[in-house]
Order: sequence, then structure tokens, then C-alpha cells
Amino acid sequence: MTYTSTTITQRYHDAIVDWQKKNFPELDILMKHWDDYFKGVPPFQLLAKVGEIKSDTVEVGQYQGRKRFEHAREMVGNAFFSARDIVRAQCSTELGSIQQHRLTLDRAVSDRGKFAVLRIMAEELRHAYQMFWVLDQDPTWKKPGLGDVAKQTIEELLSMELGGHVLDAFNIDFNDFLDNVTYATVIDLVGKYQLEMQQVFSYAPMARSMGPMLQEEAFHLGSGRKLLKEIGQMAARGEGDYSIQDVQRAMNLWYPRGLEMFGNEHGGETAVTFGFKDKTNGTAQSEYIEEVRGVVRNVNVGIVQELLPGRSREEAHAVIDAIERGGDTKHGIKPEDLLLLPDTKFFRKRGPEEFVFGPYDVRGQLLSEHGKPLSPDGYLAYLSTVLPARFIGSREYNKYVDQMREYYSSR
Ligand SMILES: [Fe+2]
Ligand SMILES: [Fe+2]
Repeated sequence: MTYTSTTITQRYHDAIVDWQKKNFPELDILMKHWDDYFKGVPPFQLLAKVGEIKSDTVEVGQYQGRKRFEHAREMVGNAFFSARDIVRAQCSTELGSIQQHRLTLDRAVSDRGKFAVLRIMAEELRHAYQMFWVLDQDPTWKKPGLGDVAKQTIEELLSMELGGHVLDAFNIDFNDFLDNVTYATVIDLVGKYQLEMQQVFSYAPMARSMGPMLQEEAFHLGSGRKLLKEIGQMAARGEGDYSIQDVQRAMNLWYPRGLEMFGNEHGGETAVTFGFKDKTNGTAQSEYIEEVRGVVRNVNVGIVQELLPGRSREEAHAVIDAIERGGDTKHGIKPEDLLLLPDTKFFRKRGPEEFVFGPYDVRGQLLSEHGKPLSPDGYLAYLSTVLPARFIGSREYNKYVDQMREYYSSR
């Protein structure tokens, strides 16, 4: 990947370094031991990376074929604010994820796991820096009557704390290392989809930012998947701190928020029209679902190979197929010994009207009582049996409860 490196205005550079000292002081430990864990990989540097773009012309939407926008002022009407909102949301995810990972960094299952997370945090810091660059390198992020939109956005982002980030997934407090791992697996994966789509971005500086970020994101996903499989296999052997049920609960917590990061699956046409993304929400989300299904399957193959030593991958697949088809025990392996991909209707707070806040179980069945859909309180009782115990009663859980009650009282 060819790119050139650059920095941002000193004042903002210093501000993000201050942010790092407060929110990510462990960066020093990573730098001290970089070669012990990542020999051959160039050490982390806080820089913006400006990659190359496929073409100078807009690839999709209403401006297709026209020259890409080099200046924010060329984006008229809603496109200007919509682009700003995407940059702001992207940057908020980067900063939020650092604040989240840090909460449970010391509970890593291994030193290798801990340093993988430290590197992920450092790279997310660079991604935040990259989004600052998108705003800072262009003096036209301004609007009459609204002033310096870039400055306001950067300042707002630097002041965001957990609970105040743009997207729900970035406000949930981590409680154990399973959160770091599941999150790197399913939440960073949404990031990959967003970055891939945004390679077409009609605003050129944003498009140029995507390649280098994507390359770094591959390490985040890879680390998450590897650690998740290891934890699954340890659980199958009865070793380590986590059971398969714990892994399932973590999946039940994070996956629905990952699905919602795409935006309502029935929408997303505006971003395509403006040439910001090349897929609608639903298209990208369904590809994501299939990819997560594959990740879950790979963990299950690892589990089966632990429980039935000597089986090939193909044989393990066949065992899993049989268990999933019949829903009963095969070769001594019970369905609950395997990880289940939750249904898309489970535990949703945003998305299609048909199922948002609906009492759906992890398999997508509508839960009912006396022939009627389960009441909100009944559903909360159900959720407490399938979500991590420490999530129940937390700030983001309470937010969900409030939003659910408001949803039902306004109908
Ligand atoms: Fe990132
Ligand atoms: Fe990431």
C-alpha cells in the first residue's frame, strides 16, 4: 500500500496527544515492547496516511463521472453535513473504542492478547488522527452562520466520554477480556465494511484515508478471531476463565449493536446518492451477517475438534451441520456446547419497525405469554438470562430499558 505521511496543525496534534495521555497512557508500554511482539512491523507513529485513489472521478450516485470533491465547500446542501456526520461518527468510534478497551486491558488472557489490544488501541488513535486530518487539511469546512465546523467537530470529539459517543456500540463498558475479543471480532468487522464502502467517497480526502486504515483494521479482526477461537477451545477443554455460555452471552451483547452500526437495513440510499458509499445499509449488512456466520462456524470447528480429537475440519463441519439441523445431541456434543449466531431480530433497538424492541429470542422466535407477545418486563427478564450478568443494570442497559419503555408508551 503506497501512501504519504503527514501531520495536522500543531494545536490539534498537541490536543490529541493530551487526549492520549489521559485516555491511553499505556501507549508507552506498547512502544517499549513493540519489537518483542511485532518485530518486522514498522513501529506505531501518530500520523495521517494519505493513500491513492482508484480514480479522480466520483464512482457512484448523482455526481458519478464528475471530478471528486477536493474541498468541503463543493458539497452542497445536505451533502456537506452528511459528510461531516460520517467523519464525526467514524472518529467517535475510534476514540470510544480506546476508552472501552482500556477498561479491561489488565484482564487479558495472555501477554500476547494484551499487546494485540494495545496495538489495536494505538491504531484506533491513528484513525481518530486521520479523521482530524480530513477536517483539518481543508479550510473550507465552514458554513456561513455556523462558523468553523471542523474546529467545532474536533473539539466535540475530544470531549466525548463513554456514554456520550455517537453510536451505541461505543458506549457499552467492557467488563472482561471477552468483551475486548468479541468486540474486535464483530464490531471492528463493521468498521471494515464501512471503510471498504467509503473507498469510493466523493470527497477525495476521505477516500484517500481508507486504504491505510483498512490495512490496519485487518490486524484487529485477525486478532479478535484468533483469540475468540482460542477462548472457545479453552472453554471446550474446561480451561480458562470463560465457558461457552460466557462467549455466547458476549456475542449476544455485541452482535446486535454491530448490526445496527449499518443504519436501518431498509435505508442508506442517501449515502449512495451523495457518492459516499457504494452499498446500501441492507446490502452491506447482509454481507456482514454471512461473514460473522463464518467466524462463528470457525470457532465451532475448533470446539468440535477439541471435543472429538482427531476429526478433520470437514468431519467437524459435518458434525456441526447435523447438530444445527436436528437441534439435538450428536456424538455427545449438545447444541449449547456450540456458539450460536443470534438472529437479526434479537435485542434490537434500532432498525425496521417490524421487530425493533420486539420480544424475540436469540433464535428469532417471538416470545409469547398467554397467547400474546411477551410484555417489556417479561422480555427484560428473558434478556437477563442471555446477556452478560454485568451488563444488566449498567448505564447502557438502563438506556435500553428507558428507550424501550418510551417506545411502547408512544405507540
Ligand atoms: Fe479504526
Ligand atoms: Fe479497529
